[in-house]
Amino acid sequence: MDTITLTRPDDWHLHLRDGEALRAVVGASAAQFARAIVMPNLRPPVATVAQALAYRQRILEALPAGAAFEPLMTLYLTDNTPADEIRRALDSGGVHAVKLYPAGATTNSDAGVTDLRRTWPVLEAMQACGMPLLVHGEVTDPAVDVFDREAVFIERVLEPLRRDFPALRVVFEHITTRQAAQYVTQAQGPIAATITAHHLLYNRNALFTGGLRPHWYCLPVLKREEHRRALLQAAISGDPRFFLGTDSAPHAARLKEHAAACAGCYTAPHAIELYAAAFEQAGALGRLEAFASFNGPDFYRLPRNTARIVLRRERWTVPESLPFGAEHIVPLAGGETLAWKLADRAS
Ligand code: DOR
Ligand code: ZN
Repeated sequence: MDTITLTRPDDWHLHLRDGEALRAVVGASAAQFARAIVMPNLRPPVATVAQALAYRQRILEALPAGAAFEPLMTLYLTDNTPADEIRRALDSGGVHAVKLYPAGATTNSDAGVTDLRRTWPVLEAMQACGMPLLVHGEVTDPAVDVFDREAVFIERVLEPLRRDFPALRVVFEHITTRQAAQYVTQAQGPIAATITAHHLLYNRNALFTGGLRPHWYCLPVLKREEHRRALLQAAISGDPRFFLGTDSAPHAARLKEHAAACAGCYTAPHAIELYAAAFEQAGALGRLEAFASFNGPDFYRLPRNTARIVLRRERWTVPESLPFGAEHIVPLAGGETLAWKLADRAS
């Protein structure tokens, strides 16, 4: 088999940044995906519908000429988000979900939620109208080991939340553990999960191979091999609750190759090729299309795309560095060889 034809995929978890950085990266996502759920963790956070729609406009203006790409906007949930904002979000047609960052969990999350009880009126409004809550699923308790923060989040936060709001539609974002995959597989009710390409391809050894490698550092951090395998099983299982979300999170190389390296892997330019590598490794290329192109829109109650893309079996090397405004950026797996290539890829 030398080509794979897929319905054009979407990215259900993407960081596009703003300004110069946005202009540097948005074309890469548009070349790969028809739509993307755009994360709101800017500074200041995208907390209101007015801010989300203005950001949407900036994204559209930053697109290369002729690119067909629809940004699906999200709101950043804070302790002070008014419940009315959900009605405005629904009426806007452009805002599709609300993101929960536990305060301090990750990049630009200091404005996040300090106590979920403060957000109950918002969660009630979301439950009532079916708007999904996207969850960064890690506790921030410094007493909890970094590698256990997702598993502990399930017990301490997610289970109680879903008991209190059984009809709330939840996406457990960028799951990284066997516990999370199992939780979603066995859960009753409206929950789904995104899985990144890097968590399907790498375990935590990648952070330390031949030295400390900051370009493999993201949050939630890569886990042990047993977890990678559990995620791969979930992704290829055919269970429609698992779908593609790259969590492509661009940071200038200078800030990754730093004493306090920023968290985030930049995978947008070669995302579908990375997922193809993971699915091929599992002998499940036939399951890629549902994961990449069907399960996400079905969960978000949006139409599936009708355009198609072609991947060709062709060895090519991921660039080691790409322009990033006045800076440069190192894509994940830069310098490595991939076996599948998107047919209309320029380089
Ligand atoms: O690695 C990450 N980078 N994880 C996140 O949750 C945020 C993201 C970013 O915005 O850089
Ligand atoms: Zn993210």
